[in-house]
Amino acid sequence: MERQGGRCWRLVLVPFPLQGHISPMLQLGTILHSRGFSITIAHTTNLGSPDASKHPDFVFLPLSSDDSSSTTESKDSDDFIVFVSDLNLNHRASLQEQLTEMVEKREQHEELPCIVYDTNMYSAETVARHLKLPSIMLCTSSASSMIAYYAYPQLLEEGCISLQGPESEELVPGLHPLRFKDLPVFDFKNPDTLLQLEASLLALSQKWLQLPPEEDHSCITWLDKQTDNSVIYVSFGSISSLDEKELAEIAWSLANSKQPFLWVVRPGSVGGSESIDVLLSDDFKGTVGERGCIVKWAPQKEVLAHRAVGGFWSHCGWNSTLESISEGGPLICRPFFADQRVNARYISREWRVGIDLENDLKRVEIERAIKMLMLGKEGQEMRQRATHLKTKAGLCIKEGGSSFNSLNKLVELIILAEG
Ligand code: UDX
Repeated sequence: MERQGGRCWRLVLVPFPLQGHISPMLQLGTILHSRGFSITIAHTTNLGSPDASKHPDFVFLPLSSDDSSSTTESKDSDDFIVFVSDLNLNHRASLQEQLTEMVEKREQHEELPCIVYDTNMYSAETVARHLKLPSIMLCTSSASSMIAYYAYPQLLEEGCISLQGPESEELVPGLHPLRFKDLPVFDFKNPDTLLQLEASLLALSQKWLQLPPEEDHSCITWLDKQTDNSVIYVSFGSISSLDEKELAEIAWSLANSKQPFLWVVRPGSVGGSESIDVLLSDDFKGTVGERGCIVKWAPQKEVLAHRAVGGFWSHCGWNSTLESISEGGPLICRPFFADQRVNARYISREWRVGIDLENDLKRVEIERAIKMLMLGKEGQEMRQRATHLKTKAGLCIKEGGSSFNSLNKLVELIILAEG
């Protein structure tokens, strides 16, 4: 693609292979492509690849894996840190090789490629430096989460962390409105492992990291039959998992709430079982009947935009948070790990568009939260505030808005770096 004096500008995007990271990287690619950049997606393949058919304008560059540089013998390592480290080690050589070729074979009018890499794909930075290519890091979580991550070493040094337990309700100095329990990094017992995520994320294995199943559009037909703002949509993103007890509490809270519900249960996300059907009792199915719709993967943005959806019970991943806010929907927050707690705190405390479910999942408490959100005065007020936020979010992406301006600055920065 050409711009300014017939010069060609190419961006090589290096996403981290999790849904919540791939989507924002591809969205950024789409925006930058519309501004005249050629887009190449350099992606890993052992966990599933981005769907090239949905992005005919992009070039897809599969990276091969060099398993000999792995730090672990086991491919089924359940340690997220080791997994990320291996992923970087194993794909660095291939990325370097492919970029070297790209640089060598480039035409006269082509600028050097600029690399845009996900925070977790940090080896791309080493490759960029080695080849003297410009590079930009994309962080797919919120700015507040990043600030909280970066504040952690200082809190540690000042002794604040060791004084507080992981459940501390104390506000973190300088990080209002976050409490120590909302901080996204930790293992309070092993504070040296700064980026250590906790049990549920550590339980990641190849299985969890597969790309999600096909979107099930039958739920839209089901939503079409429901009345306005009546349905609670329940989805915990692409990695979180539940045990069977939690599943039963959720199921019965939904049944007892008497509200229509659309519930996403990914295969393998409950006690490793592939089928939700066998986990739900006939008693539950009989009680719920047509009032509930359960799918393996929903077209979430379409669901959140549907007139029938009145609330979203979410794990508060950053994508889900933004998608919900963009549609003016109030939330029930059930964060699992990492940045989700920060997001939940902002949703419930700062923006006041959601209810935080903080304790163990108990059907009576969940039912109360669902009723409060869907039928109560508090829920109505949250919906009004969420509608207000939607308007503000809309203004940000319009010409002259803050996101619009930031993207323009990014384009200028890339051109400056490449030129
Ligand atoms: C992960 C981390 O959990 C999150 O904390 C971090 O902010 C990003 O990476 P994930 O669990 O995938 O994210 O959640 P989220 O960020 O909300 O992304 C999930 C994406 O999958 C959303 O874009 C959502 O629209 C999509 N999705 C989810 C569907 O399209 N259908 C579904 O059924 C469920």
